Amino acid sequence: MHDDHHHHHQFRYNEEERLKRQDPVKILKSSGLMAGMTFIDLGSNAGFFTLPAAKIVGPNGQVYAVDVDEQAIETLNQKLAALGTTKFGTVVGKAEDTVFGAGLADFVFLGTVLHDFADPLQVLKNAKTMLKSSGKLVNLDWRKKETVIGPPLDIRFSKAKSKELIEAAGMHVTSLKNYDNNYYLIEAVPEDGPVGH
Ligand SMILES: C[S@@+](CC[C@H](N)C(=O)[O-])C[C@H]1O[C@@H](n2cnc3c(N)ncnc32)[C@H](O)[C@@H]1O
Repeated sequence: MHDDHHHHHQFRYNEEERLKRQDPVKILKSSGLMAGMTFIDLGSNAGFFTLPAAKIVGPNGQVYAVDVDEQAIETLNQKLAALGTTKFGTVVGKAEDTVFGAGLADFVFLGTVLHDFADPLQVLKNAKTMLKSSGKLVNLDWRKKETVIGPPLDIRFSKAKSKELIEAAGMHVTSLKNYDNNYYLIEAVPEDGPVGH
């Protein structure tokens, strides 16, 4: 894991601190996540975004998550169950090998993770497969510049690099902006999806 924390225990320990600089509810809602939607989190870890997403999509929505970290998925399962989420699917495995289903997702999310995948293009191709034609990909990642915290600069993907990969996977970038001093946010739709959204 290449986040602002170097291993998972530290990652969880610092969750409170992370919440101060990154509000998952605000990020997800402003990107268009709504009640009733089907949400997929690729490289979810223990659900910093998956859990708020489950709350937003509510009882008529669905959430799916995949991560290679078995312990993180176990924690996520417990938290989703505690939240009363009934319609969820989680997988311990590589996002490169995971397709929850074709054309089922309104929202596929990547949270500071694209640069972590061994084969980011394959993960994005899977994301496209899983998206409804009206669905949306949201990629939140570290800006490629010196920040007080965050992964080493050389492993980060610039906005241009991420955009290139997303387009190579058959999607069209509809929005690309710096979210704040630390992060950028890219939104994309399937190329055969609606135009102008
Ligand atoms: C920087 S963390 C981000 C976690 C989460 N998206 C968030 O924002 O809190 C990256 C996560 O990607 C997972 N990961 C790395 N390679 C993976 C792969 N090939 N498939 C699925 N998950 C992977 C790691 O286990 C880790 O939980």
